Amino acid sequence: MGKPVWIKNIQQLATLASEVNGPRSKTAMSELGLIENGSLWLEDGVIQAVGTTSELERQFSTRIAEAEIVNAAGHLVTPGLVDPHTHVAYGGSREKEFEMRLKGISYMEIMNAGGGIHATARMTREASEEELVSETAKRLDSFLKHGVTTVEGKSGYGMTIETELKQLRVMKQLQSIHPVDIVPTFMGAHAVPPEFKGNEDRFIDHLVEEMLPAVVAEQLAEFNDVFCEKDVFTPHQSERILEAGKKYGLLPKIHADEIVPYGGAELAAKVGAISAEHLLKASDEGISSMAEAGTIACLLPATALYLREQAANGRKMIDMGVAVAISTDCNPGSSPTTSMPLVMNLACITMRLTPAEALTAATYNAACALKRQNQIGSLEAGKQADVVLWNVKNYQELQYLFGVNHVKTVWKNGVKVVG
Ligand code: NIG
Ligand code: FE
Repeated sequence: MGKPVWIKNIQQLATLASEVNGPRSKTAMSELGLIENGSLWLEDGVIQAVGTTSELERQFSTRIAEAEIVNAAGHLVTPGLVDPHTHVAYGGSREKEFEMRLKGISYMEIMNAGGGIHATARMTREASEEELVSETAKRLDSFLKHGVTTVEGKSGYGMTIETELKQLRVMKQLQSIHPVDIVPTFMGAHAVPPEFKGNEDRFIDHLVEEMLPAVVAEQLAEFNDVFCEKDVFTPHQSERILEAGKKYGLLPKIHADEIVPYGGAELAAKVGAISAEHLLKASDEGISSMAEAGTIACLLPATALYLREQAANGRKMIDMGVAVAISTDCNPGSSPTTSMPLVMNLACITMRLTPAEALTAATYNAACALKRQNQIGSLEAGKQADVVLWNVKNYQELQYLFGVNHVKTVWKNGVKVVG
């Protein structure tokens, strides 16, 4: 075991501790648990104590000599950021589609012509497991440099049993060799593979009867996601897929109402999804049913920007009582970024979240979207020592100076991994 770390004199410590246990909505999203002149004691991978500098100085007076001391005067400290929605394990890249879209061809036109998700599926099928591990590790390195200590990762660039399992195994392997934690999601229903075109229901039979059991047998996933969208999977088909996953203990997530209004938010509430993703075109009825069901809205403002679309109405969702989380959606088509700080900035600028709400959405509520709020997402004694020290003095400045990576130091499980 390494030395304990004592971070002291923190100008502003945003612990994100609050009375509200579970997804935070409305005013609870602004409770950052701020401590001025704060302090943290990290040891054995865990946060041992949180308080003011003088409180911890007293508590650890006999042990200060053995600790590595970090003077955080003038700095903000927050929990490690959590990215609750990524497609991080993929092969190849799609920069030519970026150019095509700028020339006027739409995202769905490219996909329906065999590009988009299908193009990445071909490149992912061709890549070896080793290649995928090394490409994905580079992206995880970049996440870490941007203050992200846990990401969710989806399969879905295979849509064959072998490639889906390959993607999930790549994530499992990375889990043991890379400091960033990856929470795996099965997303075999990301697109209808060409061999099943026109036979969507047969693909769903195959997914339900063969793919899901294979994934579950190897314990490769915790969540089950589907792209519920016009020309992809209908709400009815999506429901079948999500209900099948539930029987195996996989919690539903759903890519909903991204391109056209399609009843995805309503379906998320109906199946008891832990989160619904995108929601650019979600109806008011869908949003209120999510609020009632306690479904988290996982909003992806970088994707909206990248597709040159109006972002989801995050402001309205919070005001209507939905707990909001935010994410990069890191993927090679609609959002090739690993910058959660940029996503927080965009949540403020394009969805009118306040700086405090954006921080909650990228930490505690994001952890809730992964059912990890008892381990990560806030700085409290007993939780994982995932901590970021920023080159700014308070949380407002973090969101105000936008498009810049302000990370100075990152600790993952109490070990310094950046800075
Ligand atoms: O969340 N919308 C569907 N899936 C991804 C994009 C995947 C891709 O384009 O490769 C998303 O945006
Ligand atoms: Fe996505």
